[in-house]
Order: sequence, then structure tokens, then C-alpha cells
Amino acid sequence: MTSVSAKLVDALAAAETVVVLTGAGASAESGIATFRDPDGLWEQFSPEELANVEAFLDNPTLVQGWYRYRQVAIEEAAPNAGHRALTRLEQLVPRFACITQNVDNLHQEAGTERVIELHGNIIRSYCIDCGEPHTLDASVAADDDPEPVRCDECGGLIRPDVVWFGERLPPDAIASANAWARDADVFLCVGTSAVVFPAADLPLEALDHGAYLADVNPDTSAVSGKAQVHLQAPAGEALPALVEAVAARINPEAA
Ligand code: OAD
Repeated sequence: MTSVSAKLVDALAAAETVVVLTGAGASAESGIATFRDPDGLWEQFSPEELANVEAFLDNPTLVQGWYRYRQVAIEEAAPNAGHRALTRLEQLVPRFACITQNVDNLHQEAGTERVIELHGNIIRSYCIDCGEPHTLDASVAADDDPEPVRCDECGGLIRPDVVWFGERLPPDAIASANAWARDADVFLCVGTSAVVFPAADLPLEALDHGAYLADVNPDTSAVSGKAQVHLQAPAGEALPALVEAVAARINPEAA
């Protein structure tokens, strides 16, 4: 452990409130493609075509099919060592929130209790007309069937419960995320390029309010240069080692 990350261990062990902001990189080691890396999802598919409401209304079958494809990949994925380390960290510190831009449910599956979903959750879907929850499961049309999935109640189109380009974030989620960011003693960015707003404001807001800011990213993100510490390693390697050190620092006798 370097002296710089020893400072992070000290800060985490002394913190009352620890806040984590995760992005697609947190799930990369679970086999889920990120958005902006060279083999990311947006390299293979055009977001203009698929992730906005106009495109959905234009071609609901295509968009439902793409989301069902992503759901299947996500359902097959399991939390990785980074997700599990964050769950352990939640249990070690007095107050903890995991704010995530991910829609894959993997923090919840790893057992993290306070998860704030900024961009929704791909596992859920709902009717755009009556709002009834629905599923996009086997009922999604096969390629040769142009009929989109519709609501059993009112016949409205079914869409995934994710935030699309041009849409507002769920107001409760972003309000809660802002409040946690302002309260944070330590704010940890994990696996996010930190270029999509308003999520990308959260680390800066935490910094403005006196938080110790750390970035966990094998590459350089928009916050790496502003952070007190940049752990330049994959989350699945950096986080277990970090949290192990925090546990030992909090309770040396148990180590
Ligand atoms: P990006 O794809 O923009 O960034 C992923 C980041 O993860 C990059 O900085 C990588 O260097 C880093 N990374 C890759 N592998 C990693 C690993 N094993 N451990 C840690 N970091 C790793 O994804 P996001 O920042 O999440 O929004 O993108 C933000 C939003 O842009 C997404 O939520 C999505 C997209 O538009 C919506 O869909 C609304």
C-alpha cells in the first residue's frame, strides 16, 4: 500500500459518511461492456437510434429487442469482487450510500443496501400510457415479428425503466444523491468517465463541501486530476485490497 492510498485508508476509517459513485467500469469485470471504452456498447449500436423516446416511438420493436438483449446479458452476469467490497465497506462505516449510474442491479445483488439508482434499472419495465409495471421477457417479438410488446391493461407500449437521452433523472434519486454528496467525508468514484451530467457534478459538489475525493479507474477520468487519490487499477482488484485495509485499520485485533 502506497503512502497516498494509506491516506485514503485513514480517511475511510475515520469517516462518518462515505459515498460512492459508480459507473459502467464497476461492472466491467462482471462481463458487462462499458459505454465509452473501445469495445463499449455505444461503439456497436447508435444511441441516437436506440436510447431516446423518439427512436422508441419510431421503432418500438427494435428498441425493445435491444433492451431485451441487454437484459439477458445482465441477468447472466454476477457481482464481482469490487461490488462485494463495496457491500463490505457499507457494513464497516457509520453512514454509506452507493450512487450508481448503472442499470444492472449488481450492487443490490451483491447485498449493498443503500443504492441510489440515477439512471433507472434495466430489469424493470413499464407501460408508457398507464404506468403499470411490466416485463420485457420472452414476450419480446422475435426478429421476424414486427409487433412490439404492449400493455395487457391498456395496449400502451412497454419501455424499460431507464433514463434515455434528453430525459430527466428521477427527481428523488438526484435530490438524494446531491444531499449525500454534500454530506460525504469521503467520496469515491469507481469506474466512471465522469463526463455525463448531472452525475458528473456529484464528486465536484462533494469536493466543494470538503470531502476527501478518490478515483478508482485503471484509466484517467474527468475527476482523476481533481481527486486527492487516483487508484489506477481495476475496481475488482483495488477495492477488495482497499476495504481489507480499512477493516484492519478500524479493528486491528480482528485483522
Ligand atoms: P463510461 O463507459 O463512460 O466509462 C467507464 C469508465 O470505467 C472508464 O473511465 C474506464 O476507464 C473505466 N473502467 C473500465 N474498466 C474498469 C474496471 N475494471 N474498474 C474500474 N474502472 C474501469 O461509463 P459511465 O461513466 O458509467 O447513461 O457512463 C455514464 C453514463 O453514460 C451511463 O450511465 C449511460 C451513458 O450514457 C445513460 O444511459 C443515461
